[in-house]
Amino acid sequence: MTERINIRQETKDDFSAVFEVNHLAFGQDSEAKLVDALRNNPVVFVPELSIVATESNQTVGHILFTKINIIDDQGEAHESLALAPMAVRPEFQKCGIGGQLIRKGLEVAKGLGFQSVIVLGHEHYYPKFGFEPAEKWNIKAPFEVPSNVFMAIELVKDGLKNISGRVVYPKEFETV
Ligand SMILES: CC(C)(COP(=O)(O)OP(=O)(O)OC[C@H]1O[C@@H](n2cnc3c(N)ncnc32)[C@H](O)[C@@H]1OP(=O)(O)O)[C@@H](O)C(=O)NCCC(=O)NCCS
Repeated sequence: MTERINIRQETKDDFSAVFEVNHLAFGQDSEAKLVDALRNNPVVFVPELSIVATESNQTVGHILFTKINIIDDQGEAHESLALAPMAVRPEFQKCGIGGQLIRKGLEVAKGLGFQSVIVLGHEHYYPKFGFEPAEKWNIKAPFEVPSNVFMAIELVKDGLKNISGRVVYPKEFETV
């Protein structure tokens, strides 16, 4: 089934379908509203990193990466990306679409010059794509979270070398 899947940057024609995919996948509106809110924040939104999976012109998946900062002990900010949220329509899950969205997103992010990505998520899933516990770089979440679910990946060699500190998410995440 997944051979017919197309992965591409979203357009404004996808906005309502992206809302629906997030709503269906999470069983609530919070993440769908988060995507809408982040899209309206030009400081953190990167259009190329709001990516959809389509099948026969139906939007079946979505992934979003937004800009975040890692603030070190000196108060200096280091730019990174947060992978969140990601959603696949329930009837299309477990077919590898999520994996395709992640790989494409990491490739596009690297091409745009980003050095790293942070994710809060399933500890057995994201390591398949190269994510490792962020504590390896002494990068911490802004809230209490088990260390194995807060992960990071370097998009380029040494992309996180000498970068440590606390992640600051865009304010839009506070409402989720
Ligand atoms: C997470 C999600 C996007 C993965 O999409 P997908 O197309 O099913 O992903 P894939 O087919 O590439 O991989 C499926 C695998 O990921 C695992 N997985 C990923 N995230 C998971 C999670 N949050 N909880 C449980 N399992 C998860 C599945 O169990 C499955 O494992 P397997 O390959 O060992 O069977 C999809 O399951 C979804 O929309 N879930 C609801 C929303 C959500 O939790 N999003 C992530 C948090 S932002």
